Amino acid sequence: MNAYVEGNTPALDSFWMPFTANRQFKAAPRLLVAAQGMYYRSADDRQVLDGTAGLWCVNAGHGRRAIAEAVGRQLAELDFAPSLQMGHPIAFEFAERLAAMAPGGPDAGLDRIFFTNSGSESVDTALKIAFAYQRAIGQGTRTRLIGRERGYHGVGFGGISVGGMVNNRRMFPLLPGVDHLRHTHDLTRNAFSRGQPAHGAELADDLEALVTLHGAETIAAVIVEPVAGSTGVLPPPVGYLERLRSICDRHGILLIFDEVITGFGRLGSPFAVDHFGVRPDLTTTAKGLTNGAFPMGAVFARRSIYDAFMDGPESQIDLFHGYTYSGHPAACAAGLATLDIYKAEGLLTRAADLSAVWVDAMHALRGLPHVIDIRTIGLVAAIELAPRAGAPGSRAYEAFVDCFENGLLVRVTGDTIALSPPLIIEPAQIDELVSVLSAALKRVQ
Ligand SMILES: Cc1ncc(COP(=O)(O)O)c(C=O)c1O
Repeated sequence: MNAYVEGNTPALDSFWMPFTANRQFKAAPRLLVAAQGMYYRSADDRQVLDGTAGLWCVNAGHGRRAIAEAVGRQLAELDFAPSLQMGHPIAFEFAERLAAMAPGGPDAGLDRIFFTNSGSESVDTALKIAFAYQRAIGQGTRTRLIGRERGYHGVGFGGISVGGMVNNRRMFPLLPGVDHLRHTHDLTRNAFSRGQPAHGAELADDLEALVTLHGAETIAAVIVEPVAGSTGVLPPPVGYLERLRSICDRHGILLIFDEVITGFGRLGSPFAVDHFGVRPDLTTTAKGLTNGAFPMGAVFARRSIYDAFMDGPESQIDLFHGYTYSGHPAACAAGLATLDIYKAEGLLTRAADLSAVWVDAMHALRGLPHVIDIRTIGLVAAIELAPRAGAPGSRAYEAFVDCFENGLLVRVTGDTIALSPPLIIEPAQIDELVSVLSAALKRVQ
C-alpha cells in the first residue's frame, strides 16, 4: 500500500505551488500518489487515466523500471561530477546518442548538444547561443529577438520576453528589443481542422514586416513552437513554417524551434522538424528527453553554429554559459534508458499509427455543449469551449475537475482542454478517455 494513501496526507501549507491557485487547491486538493503505465493512483485510492502524459512529458508511460534502475545504478556508481572543465563519459555518450537521432537527420546538422535541466533553461540557452553566435560571426548589431503571440517558452526572463502569454509577462520586467509575430489561431477560417489548418501561412509575413520596421541587421533570432502547446494546441497553418524559414534565410535571422512538447514522438515523428520537414538552426527540448523521470533539457545546435565558437585560442572558454547540473550523470542515465525504450517499442512513430483513431475519437466530441473548436495533430488534441460571459476559463476548469473526479487527468489552458496522453495508449483507453470527457462536457453548464 502506498504510504500516502488512506488519509496519510502531509500538511499542505509550506509548498508554494507553481502556476496554481494555492488557496483553492489546498482547500480541495487533488493528490496523485503513484503511477503505472497509463494510470495514476490518487490519494483516495482511485485509478486516474493519464490524458496528459503528466505534463506533456511521460511519453513512454509511467513506472518504467529500466529508467529507475539505470538512475539507481548511476547514482551508486557516480552520483555527480561537474561538466565545467571536467567531464564524465555518460554525458558524452548521451550527447552522441542524441546527435545520431538529431532532428531532421544528418543533413540538418543539428548535432551539437548543450545540456540544461528544464525547458525554460533550454529556451534561455538557445536565445543566448543565438546572440553569441551572431556576435561571433561579426553580426553583433543583431540584438533583437522575435517571438509570437500565444507562444509559451517557459519562465526564464528570455522565455517570458519572447513568449506571448499576458499573465506570464505583465508582472515582470522583460528583455528589451523583443517583438512578436501574430498568433495563428483563427476560429473563423480554421475551426474543426484535422491536422494543419488550411489558412494562415501569410501570417509568417509578419516577420518580413518586422524586418522592414527594425532592420534585419538588428534581429538575431525568431523563436516559435512548431505546434503551440500550452496556449491551447495550435498546429501551424499549411506552409507557415516553410515561409518563416525562407524569410529567416533571406535576412540572416536564426530560426529556433521550441520542441519541448513536440520533441520525442508527440507528433508521430521523432521531432516536429522531421514531421514538417522544416529545419531550424537551434531546437530546444526537455520533457520527453528523460520520460519526465529526471529534470533535464537539451538544445540541439547546428554544427556550423558550434564551429563558429571554435575559432579563438584553444585555451579560451568558448561559451560563458552552463549549469551545475548540465549533463548530470543520473539525468543522462535516465535519458539513455528512455531512448532505449522509445527505440525498442517504436514509440517515436507510434503516434502516427494511432493518429487516425485518435483524430476520429476527438472529433466525435463535436456537437457537445459549448464545444466551439477541436484541433488535433499527432497524439495531441484541444477541445475549445465557449467562455462564460465574465468568467473566462471557469467552464474548462470545471470540466477538468469533473474529469479528475471521474478518473481522467486532462489539462486546461483558458477555456481549452488539452490532451496529450502517453504514446503507449491503446485504442480501448482512447475510448475510456472519450467517455469520461464527453460525460463531463455534458454536465458542465
Ligand atoms: C514549448 C515549451 N517551452 C518551454 C517550456 C518550459 O519547460 P519547463 O517547464 O521544463 O521549464 C514548456 C513547458 O511546458 C513548453 O511547453
